[in-house]
Amino acid sequence: HGGSTPPSLNWSFAGPFGKFDRGALQRGYKVYKEVCATCHSMSLLHFRNLADAGGPGFSAAQALAVASDVKVQDGPNDAGDMFERPGRLADPFPKPFPNENAARAANGGAYPPDLSLMAKARNYDRGFPQFVFDFFTQFQEKGPNYIDALLQGYVDPAPKDFALPPGAYYNKYFPGHAIKMPKPISDDQVTYDDGTPQKVENYAKDVSTFLMWTAEPHLEARKRIGLQVMVFLIIFAFLMYFTKKKVWANAH
Ligand code: HEM
Repeated sequence: HGGSTPPSLNWSFAGPFGKFDRGALQRGYKVYKEVCATCHSMSLLHFRNLADAGGPGFSAAQALAVASDVKVQDGPNDAGDMFERPGRLADPFPKPFPNENAARAANGGAYPPDLSLMAKARNYDRGFPQFVFDFFTQFQEKGPNYIDALLQGYVDPAPKDFALPPGAYYNKYFPGHAIKMPKPISDDQVTYDDGTPQKVENYAKDVSTFLMWTAEPHLEARKRIGLQVMVFLIIFAFLMYFTKKKVWANAH
């Protein structure tokens, strides 16, 4: 059986005028980096992306500062040796484990999935006919709704009638309820410097926003262009209508 249906939240990026909340993206990146990145990779993201238009709004210098904090394995050099160097804008985000086996060994046999596209991957989990219903309502917000709910859905101890396998944790929203990810985040775990209260609720919403951006980096441009196209088509339809009237005015 599946998990409970995550509540539908109000996201700044929802709807035809949607835009990412810049502050939420920056805070969400901080949560990802300080918490999630100890177990989850983010293989499609590169440091340069932090400065991309429609993203968290880092300057190129800030993105470079983030990159150069990281030690990157490079090589072989001319002498045939591997060496370490500071990260550059072109480097991908660092991986927490060298390979899947190492990741599983550190997580009780479970593999922490790559988070790059997680906000899209978990859009499709609700099956038919919920899928059809979602298509006309909150379809694209399903992923972030789920991630937000999952991070807040831990219940400890598990309900008495639930047989929790060893090494698993009870989560209201995880399909099957027994998840191998320990509750990753608690109040005050990540320092926010913009005055946003350091509550799990805010951490969850911000990191979900950040993961929506990593999965949909061109969301803002796509919505903006979509809107412009619709406006153009409406004006064009009127022009064609009056042109038709004029061209065919004496046609009978
Ligand atoms: C699974 C998010 C931190 C270990 C997952 C899933 C998501 C997620 C969305 C997939 C759930 C599903 O399959 O539906 C996050 C976020 C984190 C975070 C946003 C930071 C706030 C961590 C940390 C660890 C971890 C710190 C390790 C201590 C795992 C593992 C799984 C998992 C092992 C696989 C669970 C299973 O299949 O049973 N995480 N995670 N995660 N995560 Fe995390």
